[in-house]
Amino acid sequence: MTGQYQQWRKDFPYTVRHQRTTLHFTDEIPAYTRTALERLIDSPAAAKRVSAPLDCQQSALFTKREQLDSLKKKLRVHRGNPKRSGIYDWAIEEMINTCEAYRRGARVPRLLGYGYRRSRLGLVEDFFLITELLKDHVDGFTLIRRDPQAIRPLISAVLELLASLHSHDIVHMDLWAANVMLPKKGDGPAHAIDLENCFYEPTSHFSEVLGFQMGFFYYREMYRYITEADYDALVEAALGAYPHLDRPAFSEIYDISKHQDVGRLERREIFHRGVLKRHW
Ligand SMILES: Nc1ncnc2c1ncn2[C@@H]1O[C@H](COP(=O)(O)OP(=O)(O)O)[C@@H](O)[C@H]1O
Ligand SMILES: [Mg+2]
Repeated sequence: MTGQYQQWRKDFPYTVRHQRTTLHFTDEIPAYTRTALERLIDSPAAAKRVSAPLDCQQSALFTKREQLDSLKKKLRVHRGNPKRSGIYDWAIEEMINTCEAYRRGARVPRLLGYGYRRSRLGLVEDFFLITELLKDHVDGFTLIRRDPQAIRPLISAVLELLASLHSHDIVHMDLWAANVMLPKKGDGPAHAIDLENCFYEPTSHFSEVLGFQMGFFYYREMYRYITEADYDALVEAALGAYPHLDRPAFSEIYDISKHQDVGRLERREIFHRGVLKRHW
């Protein structure tokens, strides 16, 4: 395995081994957590990707696990290589982005561990990511399905979170309601999760990127809970925080992203080139 893994081994020096799985942690693991981790490792994964709190309240950990389903993928992850597009596979992207965002002080849960299950031949088959559990939080999509009246506070919290992430040069390109965590009680700030589609270098196309982010939040489910005019008004008020915004550039991508699906590769185009490919 390559340099990236060697660095991670240093940053995550505590190891839990069980069956053919090895997990690396930032801190020593108490016995009750180890037992719960062994249970997780022993349980067959119900789906290709499983995201769930670790079954041990005391541990307060959240686990994500993905089966690498093709030989190509297994080899790439094993060697620590990116895909032809330059993007790493899910687990590696998410791991790199989460560590970097947390290091910069962005509001994301800390990554506490990662690991993999190896095949009998030694190839990585399953990848695990383990973060701190955001206790007493609920994701925005769950919240809004339970209580549609919460739409305005949710949108305000998300617009504030976006500005906060930008202040650390963290650009989350998949920030829909389910990827935002809010405190169940009180009005504490929101946290971002699920950082697979995320950048942490500055963009020369900030206005277009913000247009995408704000349009996309509405497009993914939120249009069911608020009229477009009301949403636009909330966005308009939030734009006061961005005095240098190129309004035409913002509006063009915002209007498209509010109404059409923008795929992952298209999002990267917006970030790197400020354009939506299909509109060349
Ligand atoms: N650190 C966490 N603490 C508590 N709940 C979380 C945490 N991370 C994710 N979740 C919950 O799990 C759901 C799925 O997690 P997410 O990271 O978005 O994975 P996926 O890649 O499966 O979308 C989220 O919508 C949220 O409800
Ligand atoms: Mg998600």
